Amino acid sequence: MGIEIRDVNLSYGSHHVLKNINLRVHPGEIFAFLGPSGCGKTTLLRLIAGFNQAASGQVLLGDEDIAALPPWKRDVGMVFQSYALWPHMTVAKNVAFGLEERRLPRAQVASRVKAALELVGLQELGARYPSQLSGGQQQRVAVARTIAIEPKVLLLDEPLSNLDTKMRVQVRRELRDLQRRLCLTTIFVTHDQEEANSICDRIAVMNDGVIQHVGTPIELYEAPANLFVANFLGTANILEGRVVGEAGVRAFEVAGGARVALAANAPVSSGAKLVFRPQHAALGPSGSSGLAGTIVHREFLGSIVRYGVNVGRSEILVEMPFISSATLKDLGENVAVTLVPERALFLAA
Ligand SMILES: Nc1ncnc2c1ncn2[C@@H]1O[C@H](COP(=O)(O)OP(=O)(O)OP(=O)(O)O)[C@@H](O)[C@H]1O
Ligand SMILES: [Mg+2]
Repeated sequence: MGIEIRDVNLSYGSHHVLKNINLRVHPGEIFAFLGPSGCGKTTLLRLIAGFNQAASGQVLLGDEDIAALPPWKRDVGMVFQSYALWPHMTVAKNVAFGLEERRLPRAQVASRVKAALELVGLQELGARYPSQLSGGQQQRVAVARTIAIEPKVLLLDEPLSNLDTKMRVQVRRELRDLQRRLCLTTIFVTHDQEEANSICDRIAVMNDGVIQHVGTPIELYEAPANLFVANFLGTANILEGRVVGEAGVRAFEVAGGARVALAANAPVSSGAKLVFRPQHAALGPSGSSGLAGTIVHREFLGSIVRYGVNVGRSEILVEMPFISSATLKDLGENVAVTLVPERALFLAA
């Protein structure tokens, strides 16, 4: 079942938190809301679950406008960031709770609890209490409890944030596999771009209550819609400058006078900055064509070497494959930074 959000606005008092949100989540996909703290991710998720009301706009589940339905009538299951397990109930009781509230027959409750715990691999731990589980196991109980009600849509609010790095990588794979097996339309909220990239089919990048860009992880990385998206997804070098020259022989001139050639028809909006990834630049000898700079930093990372290069007033990062010690550049060395021309982007705010 797909989700569609149309022209949604929401305010807390005078604070306009969600601004004209339009989104489509396809049936069966896992979709991320990605953005910095306070940008409105949880607010949007709670709106879909029915815990928040929009001032205007529509929320559709399939073809049905669910704006007027209370949470328990929405076929939407939400896993809260804190898990919100009942500490005085066993694992099995926690999973059964939502089913008992819905007044399902006892035999059906038992079989659904069993099936949900099996799905998350906790069939042996039904009699334990949450305090007797690891963080990752508690997280799985929270997912089992939500899946037991057989929602058509699963909403996960930063479900991995309480886990250590190793567990996080393991549990995110488990979540991904489970989501695929159930073919369950899922929205995954995170402020961690690696998490969103690694498990989500598509991502909506949000900032300050506005959706900046929706696309696959690779689309967002390769062709970010604006400076915010370029900066939020991976490392980006950003240099100010201006377009110079006539039609036909145009270039983008950065501080210090260095120029990057522009294709005749390349659209560069006013106020745009030059953006490129560290791996799309290389270091040549000083005096060759490129952005003149001085090496101020060097990190050896095994297969690659990361350099910090002062170009005008900016420090830019350049990552080059490590070939041998003979090809390394030294601190203080003057160099020219060359760009892969077709990887240079010109983006505005
Ligand atoms: N109940 C509320 N009353 C008033 N303001 C709120 C309320 N809940 C959230 N806000 C504000 O709305 C904005 C968006 O909050 P929200 O919780 O959606 O952010 P978020 O993107 O989920 O952030 P985080 O990554 O920190 O969880 C914030 O400025 C927050 O302070
Ligand atoms: Mg939040």
